[in-house]
Amino acid sequence: MQATEIEGVFKRNGRLYTINLCKGMRVYGESLKTVDGVEYRSWNPYRSKLAAAILKGIKIDTLNKNSKVLYLGAATGTTVSHLSDIVSEIYAVEYSAFAMKKLLELAKKRSNIIPILADANHPHRYLSIVPKVDFLYQDISQRNQVDIFIENVDMYLKSDGRGLLMVKTRSIDVALPPEKIVVEIEEEIRKHGFNVLQKKYLKPYEKDHAALLVEGNGNI
Ligand SMILES: C[S@@+](CC[C@H](N)C(=O)[O-])C[C@H]1O[C@@H](n2cnc3c(N)ncnc32)[C@H](O)[C@@H]1O
Repeated sequence: MQATEIEGVFKRNGRLYTINLCKGMRVYGESLKTVDGVEYRSWNPYRSKLAAAILKGIKIDTLNKNSKVLYLGAATGTTVSHLSDIVSEIYAVEYSAFAMKKLLELAKKRSNIIPILADANHPHRYLSIVPKVDFLYQDISQRNQVDIFIENVDMYLKSDGRGLLMVKTRSIDVALPPEKIVVEIEEEIRKHGFNVLQKKYLKPYEKDHAALLVEGNGNI
């Protein structure tokens, strides 16, 4: 296994891996591989946009074993589970009760996942639970996904933290070319005082998706 620039993320034969926090357990049918007595879980870029973004070259320097993460749009926990292999705590927000059932099961096995049944449109509702974080990740395919991201970053991201927005361009406008939508989103983020550090399109893993890495704005 070869270490990558992200602590806790490894590469072998072009595939990504994280070290399995719960030995012998799979979360979504991923393959397990033991090398030198360490069990790794294969991280599928077709199932996780974060894995796709990392393979496309996004560099996140606030992900490590001490970091705290706020995750918006946790679903049943596919990507959350890999972050749980890497970081100290993940506050996983999801508003579907159906998905939350599975996420709760996952959190029983992985104690660093804190599931929160809430609508990310109302970030003040989880203020008593979520601390300031080193990494804020959002994967919500809603028309107002940028507003949700800005509000949460404003409230929770440390000034030296990083925010990663997974933009689904088709959720914003099907008629406009994706590149134009992404440029408009970048402008909107900058207008709110945040620097966009990196941008990657997620093809061939996900079409109509781009990842935008943002730095905290010094408010927190
Ligand atoms: C594309 S899926 C996320 C997949 C997940 N990130 C993964 O990689 O495993 C989007 C999720 O966001 C949730 N969602 C959408 N709008 C939301 C909101 N306003 N607040 C919280 N969750 C939301 C949906 O219920 C859905 O589970």
